[in-house]
Amino acid sequence: MSKHRVSRRQFLNYTLTGVGGFMAAGMLMPMVRFAVDPVLKTSAAGDFIATKQKVAELTNEPVRVDYSYEQKDAWYTSEVTHTAWVYKNKEGNIIALSPVCKHLGCTVNWAGDKNNPNKFYCPCHGGLYEKNGKNIPGTPPTAPLDTYPTKEKDGILYLGQPEPNKYVK
Ligand code: FES
Repeated sequence: MSKHRVSRRQFLNYTLTGVGGFMAAGMLMPMVRFAVDPVLKTSAAGDFIATKQKVAELTNEPVRVDYSYEQKDAWYTSEVTHTAWVYKNKEGNIIALSPVCKHLGCTVNWAGDKNNPNKFYCPCHGGLYEKNGKNIPGTPPTAPLDTYPTKEKDGILYLGQPEPNKYVK
Protein backbone atom coordinates (compact mmCIF):
# COMPACT_ATOMS: atom_id res chain seq x y z
CA MET A 1 0.00 0.00 0.00
CA SER A 2 1.23 3.55 -0.81
CA LYS A 3 1.88 5.98 2.02
CA HIS A 4 0.17 8.77 0.08
CA ARG A 5 -3.40 7.75 0.32
CA VAL A 6 -5.95 10.06 -1.12
CA SER A 7 -8.74 10.79 1.28
CA ARG A 8 -12.34 10.80 0.15
CA ARG A 9 -12.43 14.59 0.63
CA GLN A 10 -9.32 15.09 -1.52
CA PHE A 11 -10.67 12.79 -4.18
CA LEU A 12 -13.92 14.78 -4.34
CA ASN A 13 -12.00 18.05 -4.42
CA TYR A 14 -9.81 16.91 -7.33
CA THR A 15 -12.75 15.48 -9.25
CA LEU A 16 -14.96 18.52 -8.80
CA THR A 17 -12.12 20.90 -9.68
CA GLY A 18 -11.36 18.92 -12.84
CA VAL A 19 -14.98 18.69 -13.95
CA GLY A 20 -15.61 22.35 -13.07
CA GLY A 21 -12.56 23.46 -15.03
CA PHE A 22 -13.59 21.39 -18.02
CA MET A 23 -17.11 22.87 -17.98
CA ALA A 24 -15.78 26.43 -17.58
CA ALA A 25 -13.44 25.94 -20.55
CA GLY A 26 -16.37 24.62 -22.60
CA MET A 27 -18.36 27.78 -21.85
CA LEU A 28 -15.50 30.25 -22.23
CA MET A 29 -14.09 28.98 -25.54
CA PRO A 30 -17.05 30.07 -27.71
CA MET A 31 -17.07 33.48 -25.98
CA VAL A 32 -13.34 33.99 -26.58
CA ARG A 33 -13.71 32.84 -30.17
CA PHE A 34 -16.63 35.25 -30.73
CA ALA A 35 -14.60 38.12 -29.30
CA VAL A 36 -11.44 37.46 -31.28
CA ASP A 37 -12.81 36.05 -34.54
CA PRO A 38 -13.28 39.30 -36.51
CA VAL A 39 -9.74 40.34 -35.69
CA LEU A 40 -8.32 37.06 -36.98
CA LYS A 41 -10.30 37.02 -40.20
CA THR A 42 -8.28 37.91 -43.28
CA SER A 43 -9.42 41.10 -44.91
CA ALA A 44 -9.90 41.71 -48.62
CA ALA A 45 -7.49 44.64 -48.41
CA GLY A 46 -5.23 43.30 -51.11
CA ASP A 47 -8.08 42.90 -53.60
CA PHE A 48 -8.79 45.06 -56.61
CA ILE A 49 -11.91 47.20 -56.38
CA ALA A 50 -14.18 47.91 -59.33
CA THR A 51 -14.72 51.54 -60.33
CA LYS A 52 -17.37 52.83 -62.71
CA GLN A 53 -14.71 54.09 -65.13
CA LYS A 54 -14.67 52.54 -68.60
CA VAL A 55 -11.08 51.96 -69.70
CA ALA A 56 -11.93 52.81 -73.32
CA GLU A 57 -12.93 56.33 -72.25
CA LEU A 58 -9.57 57.12 -70.67
CA THR A 59 -7.35 59.58 -72.55
CA ASN A 60 -4.03 61.23 -71.77
CA GLU A 61 -5.90 63.87 -69.73
CA PRO A 62 -6.19 62.84 -66.05
CA VAL A 63 -9.79 62.32 -64.88
CA ARG A 64 -11.04 62.05 -61.34
CA VAL A 65 -12.38 58.57 -60.56
CA ASP A 66 -14.35 58.14 -57.32
CA TYR A 67 -15.11 54.64 -56.11
CA SER A 68 -16.60 53.07 -53.00
CA TYR A 69 -16.37 49.78 -51.21
CA GLU A 70 -17.39 48.18 -47.93
CA GLN A 71 -14.65 48.16 -45.33
CA LYS A 72 -14.73 45.78 -42.37
CA ASP A 73 -12.92 46.98 -39.29
CA ALA A 74 -13.28 44.13 -36.79
CA TRP A 75 -17.02 44.30 -35.97
CA TYR A 76 -17.73 47.54 -37.79
CA THR A 77 -18.60 47.69 -41.48
CA SER A 78 -18.62 51.00 -43.28
CA GLU A 79 -18.78 52.34 -46.82
CA VAL A 80 -15.52 53.98 -47.81
CA THR A 81 -15.07 56.28 -50.79
CA HIS A 82 -11.70 56.84 -52.44
CA THR A 83 -10.49 58.91 -55.37
CA ALA A 84 -7.85 58.40 -58.02
CA TRP A 85 -6.57 60.56 -60.87
CA VAL A 86 -6.38 58.31 -63.91
CA TYR A 87 -5.03 58.70 -67.44
CA LYS A 88 -3.22 56.79 -70.19
CA ASN A 89 0.44 57.57 -70.76
CA LYS A 90 2.18 57.77 -74.18
CA GLU A 91 2.65 53.99 -74.21
CA GLY A 92 -1.07 53.48 -73.58
CA ASN A 93 -0.54 52.24 -70.01
CA ILE A 94 -3.09 53.26 -67.40
CA ILE A 95 -1.64 55.47 -64.67
CA ALA A 96 -3.72 55.88 -61.50
CA LEU A 97 -2.45 58.37 -58.93
CA SER A 98 -3.50 58.84 -55.34
CA PRO A 99 -4.84 62.37 -54.70
CA VAL A 100 -3.36 62.45 -51.19
CA CYS A 101 -0.71 65.16 -50.99
CA LYS A 102 2.62 63.99 -49.58
CA HIS A 103 3.02 67.16 -47.56
CA LEU A 104 0.17 67.07 -45.05
CA GLY A 105 -2.44 64.93 -46.78
CA CYS A 106 -4.72 67.44 -48.53
CA THR A 107 -6.34 66.45 -51.81
CA VAL A 108 -4.58 67.41 -55.02
CA ASN A 109 -6.37 68.38 -58.22
CA TRP A 110 -5.28 68.14 -61.83
CA ALA A 111 -4.85 71.62 -63.32
CA GLY A 112 -6.11 73.10 -60.07
CA ASP A 113 -3.91 76.17 -60.45
CA LYS A 114 -4.41 78.33 -63.53
CA ASN A 115 -0.71 79.22 -63.56
CA ASN A 116 0.22 75.51 -63.73
CA PRO A 117 -2.35 73.99 -66.07
CA ASN A 118 -0.50 70.71 -66.66
CA LYS A 119 0.32 69.86 -63.09
CA PHE A 120 -1.35 68.45 -60.02
CA TYR A 121 -1.92 71.23 -57.52
CA CYS A 122 -2.47 71.05 -53.79
CA PRO A 123 -4.47 74.10 -52.63
CA CYS A 124 -3.44 73.81 -48.97
CA HIS A 125 0.14 75.07 -49.29
CA GLY A 126 0.66 75.37 -53.03
CA GLY A 127 2.19 71.93 -53.60
CA LEU A 128 2.84 70.97 -57.22
CA TYR A 129 3.37 67.60 -58.92
CA GLU A 130 4.20 66.58 -62.48
CA LYS A 131 1.68 64.51 -64.42
CA ASN A 132 3.41 61.26 -63.36
CA GLY A 133 3.13 62.30 -59.71
CA LYS A 134 6.68 63.61 -59.25
CA ASN A 135 6.79 66.32 -56.61
CA ILE A 136 8.20 69.59 -57.91
CA PRO A 137 11.21 70.85 -55.94
CA GLY A 138 10.67 74.18 -54.24
CA THR A 139 7.07 73.30 -53.27
CA PRO A 140 6.21 71.73 -49.89
CA PRO A 141 5.68 68.03 -50.85
CA THR A 142 8.79 65.91 -50.33
CA ALA A 143 7.75 62.73 -52.18
CA PRO A 144 5.86 61.71 -55.33
CA LEU A 145 2.14 60.90 -55.21
CA ASP A 146 1.42 57.21 -54.58
CA THR A 147 -0.01 55.12 -57.41
CA TYR A 148 -2.69 52.44 -57.54
CA PRO A 149 -2.07 49.15 -59.32
CA THR A 150 -4.65 48.89 -62.12
CA LYS A 151 -6.50 46.06 -63.81
CA GLU A 152 -9.07 45.92 -66.59
CA LYS A 153 -11.98 43.49 -66.50
CA ASP A 154 -14.92 43.58 -68.90
CA GLY A 155 -13.81 47.04 -70.00
CA ILE A 156 -14.01 48.43 -66.47
CA LEU A 157 -11.11 49.86 -64.46
CA TYR A 158 -10.19 48.10 -61.21
CA LEU A 159 -7.84 49.66 -58.65
CA GLY A 160 -5.70 48.05 -55.96
CA GLN A 161 -4.21 49.54 -52.81
CA PRO A 162 -1.94 52.61 -53.03
CA GLU A 163 1.78 51.90 -53.33
CA PRO A 164 4.93 54.00 -53.80
CA ASN A 165 5.12 55.66 -57.22
CA LYS A 166 7.19 53.55 -59.63
CA TYR A 167 6.87 55.93 -62.60
CA VAL A 168 9.10 58.57 -61.04
CA LYS A 169 12.80 57.89 -61.61
S1 FES B 1 -0.81 69.52 -47.80
FE1 FES B 1 -0.37 69.68 -49.87
S2 FES B 1 1.07 71.25 -49.98
FE2 FES B 1 0.65 71.07 -47.88
